[in-house]
Amino acid sequence: MTRARTPGIFVTGTDTGVGKTLVSRALIAAFRKVGLKVGVMKPIETGVGEDGPLDAIAMRDAAGATDPLETICPQQFALPAAPNVAARAENREVDLASIDAAYQRIARGRDLMVVEGAGGLLVPIRGDWTMAELARDLALPLLIVARASLGTINHTALTLEVAASKKLPVLGVVISHAEGPLSAADASNLLALKEILGDRLIGEIPPLGPGEATPLDAIDIDALTRRLLTDPGAE
Ligand SMILES: Nc1ncnc2c1ncn2[C@@H]1O[C@H](COP(=O)(O)OP(=O)(O)OP(=O)(O)O)[C@@H](O)[C@H]1O
Ligand SMILES: [Mg+2]
Repeated sequence: MTRARTPGIFVTGTDTGVGKTLVSRALIAAFRKVGLKVGVMKPIETGVGEDGPLDAIAMRDAAGATDPLETICPQQFALPAAPNVAARAENREVDLASIDAAYQRIARGRDLMVVEGAGGLLVPIRGDWTMAELARDLALPLLIVARASLGTINHTALTLEVAASKKLPVLGVVISHAEGPLSAADASNLLALKEILGDRLIGEIPPLGPGEATPLDAIDIDALTRRLLTDPGAE
């Protein structure tokens, strides 16, 4: 990789439904606000119905991008399942080359790429490839989105372990309160996660009401940018 390549962030999660798209949109908005040209991708989306790939559409709209949806999301499948399962249901396989080609096309002329994975790091894509291999193939450091409720310590630690064992750089962890206000027990549990994470915790999205925007200061964009610029994966 050359230093001139467009830097980017691979937004992964400790699970499906944890807030990856919400966090991706918040990142896109924050980077656009400081004048960056942001390219977006949801390389593989499953559960795509008549309304199209909803995550890809949300990211495209947040970025104000005019790239065709087929480039932003080159691999779309109807079954709401892991990519290899959803592809098999259509007698297809995930076309990895189409993802690389689309990525190069979108990254050209952009200052930064924000890419949302599907599910978590060990979700199978094709053969022995999981989301982790896709992040590595695209040479992107990870931003991990974690839930706030019970189970999150284990899920977050597992995700960090997998990232470390596969030598994927991690920019930080963002906690999103997708399940609304926490019980007192869950709140103590979350406090313990925060202690474990230390400065790896780079943001926390409070429980948002319907239609409520993510607060601009919910993610430490300055710290994220600093880590992005010193990330070995970006060289
Ligand atoms: N902090 C929050 N407050 C309120 N709702 C939230 C919050 N974070 C996430 N949600 C909601 O939780 C749901 C799941 O979030 P989101 O779609 O961002 O997850 P995801 O990880 O991208 O899911 P997928 O694996 O399907 O891509 C959405 O309805 C989203 O609006
Ligand atoms: Mg999503």
